[in-house]
Amino acid sequence: KTVQVGSQDVALGPYRHYMQKEIFEQPRALADTLEGVEGIVPELFDDHGVRSRAAWRVFDATQRVLILACGTSYYAGCVARYWLEAIAGVPTAVEIASEYRYRTSVPEPGTLVVTISQSGETADTLAALRHAQALGLTDTLTICNVATSAMVRECELAYVTRAGVEIGVASTKAFTTQLAALFLLTLALAQRKGRLSPEQEAQHLRAMRHLPAALQAVLALEPQVIRWAEDFAAKEHALFLGRGLHYPIALEGALKLKEISYIHAEAYPAGELKHGPLALVTSAMPVVTVAPNDALLEKLKSNMQEVRARGGVLYVLADADTHITASEGLHVIRMPEHYGALSPILHVAPLQLLAYHTACLRGTDVDKPRNLAKSVTVE
Ligand code: AGP
Repeated sequence: KTVQVGSQDVALGPYRHYMQKEIFEQPRALADTLEGVEGIVPELFDDHGVRSRAAWRVFDATQRVLILACGTSYYAGCVARYWLEAIAGVPTAVEIASEYRYRTSVPEPGTLVVTISQSGETADTLAALRHAQALGLTDTLTICNVATSAMVRECELAYVTRAGVEIGVASTKAFTTQLAALFLLTLALAQRKGRLSPEQEAQHLRAMRHLPAALQAVLALEPQVIRWAEDFAAKEHALFLGRGLHYPIALEGALKLKEISYIHAEAYPAGELKHGPLALVTSAMPVVTVAPNDALLEKLKSNMQEVRARGGVLYVLADADTHITASEGLHVIRMPEHYGALSPILHVAPLQLLAYHTACLRGTDVDKPRNLAKSVTVE
């Protein structure tokens, strides 16, 4: 089977669906997106050096970042906010494009507007960009997967990801390559702000170069995820929990499950459980928990206890060094050792596979889920 996209014929190959193919293309997509990145230089954002050296001026003038996006791309922005504030020390706001474009906001000087869009044609994100420009925010940068799109044309700077054509309506390789580009942006701003030592830069670059191999290892967990999907296929509700920069990964995991398996799924910051959602927890609603071995692990473990105490069944993605072991009502998939700041890129993969295999078991149209379009070019 092949699908014609522009002048390209995209073959399905040995896969059942394009979404499955694109999930397994992520290591290569990351390698292609990061290809040739020797140092963190602003020119990377001059559309790979094609344009003038505007990026130096823009990054030096950047006092704060405003990220505008929709859907999965919005969740990529939510992860980036943690990086931009913690690593680059740049105040960052992330807004849903369809909200920002209609509200009366307060434009602040020194704002770098960053749009994130796989297609580069999403009506709400383009309108939000133009709204920001009309407010005088003219320093704009896009993280986009289509070099010939309106978004790339209308932004001053562009980092074009090299995920290749994404056919599945559910965004997968576009999301992880967006995160890689956003991490590069973080490092570029950190460097321009004098917050990145050569040692730190070298360490982050080493981790980025190892990402494709690290992600390949996570994708090998697929058989264990399929066993989880066999439980999820019979459910009508699911809760996803995460803390810190893995909370947007819980949001993305819930969105994937919603949009292709049609199961009602929502995500919460784990610390919010006792402020309401805990009332929902019964054995009928599986609770997926993203459990990286980071500073919030002990807090997360007590949230997991709260769920178990109410008969909730936990499905935990646990970094190898968290010492979380399976028990009655507690399913564990062991992830590799904690991967530091880039950990969200690894933890999203099992959630993509969970949504994919649950949808396959429920017999939905995985590549073209009902009511949805690949690019929402109309309001
Ligand atoms: C994600 O799986 C969906 N396909 C959808 O939320 C998508 O991320 C959103 O419509 C934004 O699209 P864009 O990245 O092309 O702007």
